[in-house]
Amino acid sequence: MKIALVTGAGRGIGRETARQLAEREMIVFAGVREENHAPEGTRPILLDVTDPAAVASAAKIVGEEFGRLDVLVNNAATCGDFGMTPAEVTAKHMRATYEVGVFGVVTVTHAMIPLLRAAGEARIVNMTTRLASISLTSAGDDLNVAWPMLAYNSAKSALNALTVLYANELRGSGILVNAVDPGHCATDLTGHTGSRTAAEGAAVAVRMATLGGDGPTGTFSSQEGPIPW
Ligand SMILES: NC(=O)c1ccc[n+]([C@@H]2O[C@H](COP(=O)([O-])OP(=O)(O)OC[C@H]3O[C@@H](n4cnc5c(N)ncnc54)[C@H](OP(=O)(O)O)[C@@H]3O)[C@@H](O)[C@H]2O)c1
Repeated sequence: MKIALVTGAGRGIGRETARQLAEREMIVFAGVREENHAPEGTRPILLDVTDPAAVASAAKIVGEEFGRLDVLVNNAATCGDFGMTPAEVTAKHMRATYEVGVFGVVTVTHAMIPLLRAAGEARIVNMTTRLASISLTSAGDDLNVAWPMLAYNSAKSALNALTVLYANELRGSGILVNAVDPGHCATDLTGHTGSRTAAEGAAVAVRMATLGGDGPTGTFSSQEGPIPW
């Protein structure tokens, strides 16, 4: 059986991703900050991604029991500047957003890479957004112009860069690293305004988490296909 870890699996798209991976007969560690928030059929693991000791402890738990990790979904994120214009955003907003969505991803990924390497064939999926696309934003894309969050969007642009850098280093190791946009989903993050369900958003991540060995690496895509960087 494959072993998976999903961060931010207590609610929203992360919770659905964990649930759908468990339905695919994986043993799923649901990274949560409250144990009773893990979805049924998964194994709760206490994981605040900003806490290096918690991340180290999660790696130890997975390593001691299984010695490997087949799937890592870096899903946890916050948006510290929802509805703000770039000129309103301070470094404090930036730090809070980067702490979870960028530094948290590096802390978790760095800790899990030895276990992912031990799996031989492994997948890393980074939850990003089309709002991170510098190409679309600079081209005046309607949606990206309408949602110009300095902290959130740029944190996800940084996450996209991490995706490519990890993918390049791990190319040939059997570890495929891809960034996915779940689409606009009705979750707490969006004030439940999205037109898609969390389950539909999760399906995009699950597809990349279950790629075959000949699958792509270093890509940025949504359900509709590739998104320009
Ligand atoms: N919803 C959308 O339309 C949309 C669109 C594009 C991309 N995304 C991305 O999809 C992912 C999931 O978003 P969502 O809409 O499901 O958001 P959400 O409902 O707000 O859930 C966010 C999740 O992140 C967790 N989290 C926050 N800070 C954390 C920390 N320090 N350590 C560990 N977990 C932490 C939360 O855990 P707690 O429950 O403990 O707070 C929660 O499980 C995010 O990366 C988001 O940027 C969402």
